[in-house]
Amino acid sequence: MSKKLIKKAVIPAAGLGTRFLPATKSVPKELLPIVDMPTIQLIVEEIASSGIETVILITSKGKASIADHFDVNSDLHKKLLEDGKHELAAKLKETSEMVNVVTVRQGVPRGLGHAVLCARDLIGDEPFAVLLGDDLVDSKIPCTKQMIDVYEKYNKSVVALMEVEERDVSKFGICGGTDLEENVLELNKMIEKPAPDIAPSKLAIVGRYILEPKIFEILESTDPGTGNEIQLTDAMSKLMASDGFLGYKFKGERFDAGDKLGFVKANINFALKRPEIAPHLVEYMKKCIK
Ligand code: G1P
Repeated sequence: MSKKLIKKAVIPAAGLGTRFLPATKSVPKELLPIVDMPTIQLIVEEIASSGIETVILITSKGKASIADHFDVNSDLHKKLLEDGKHELAAKLKETSEMVNVVTVRQGVPRGLGHAVLCARDLIGDEPFAVLLGDDLVDSKIPCTKQMIDVYEKYNKSVVALMEVEERDVSKFGICGGTDLEENVLELNKMIEKPAPDIAPSKLAIVGRYILEPKIFEILESTDPGTGNEIQLTDAMSKLMASDGFLGYKFKGERFDAGDKLGFVKANINFALKRPEIAPHLVEYMKKCIK
């Protein structure tokens, strides 16, 4: 069978970001910075370094500035060059050239499954990646690239998994399955936000997916589930039953940037990777815990 390349990635970015109010009253949560980098830029960098060329952003009212972030701002570029800030100008230009960004509006908030369905016409009949902006993964090999490798080996949809505490299973989609090889499972169960007593395992879905296009026709006929929203997990469970679905325990550290503590931890993690900041931050933290 010839390999189907993953050329497009969908980032659902239509949510209201209520967990970060008041910060998100007029700024999309996707633009909140991890040090000096909008969270969505880290996601787009993961996409670009996984070899994907096109990003489909699912946005909504008040979110136009996300797409603006990936445009070239000619006035700013000119000003930076005039001021001799060549390196910064080049860095910003690079951001605009990383990938092609296309936007689709999700006119009504009907859930993650519905947000992905909004990308149907732009994806067509190809497998594609989905990355949720709240989940940041710090890893040597980009998490999406690791998943593409698994997809290309087995030609089946793949979802990223990580083990969570039992008390946290009701915050995630939870999967059950049998081992296929180290870190790869053939899944036989997927439940969105189960109560701990019905969770098939402690393996939680992290916001990275490689999906076969058949997911679209399934999503179209998927009724609202948990939270009265059209759930991607429910449609994936049907795809699993008909075509099979893999779970992949990725290598790397995941941060929940949609959670206040997770957001602060992500900031500390990425700040510690910046040589101009790290020693000062370590010194400051030592002082704080005295
Ligand atoms: C979504 C998915 C869930 C997944 C989670 C990962 O939930 O529906 O299956 O485990 O992302 O972050 P949300 O956190 O958007 O409610």
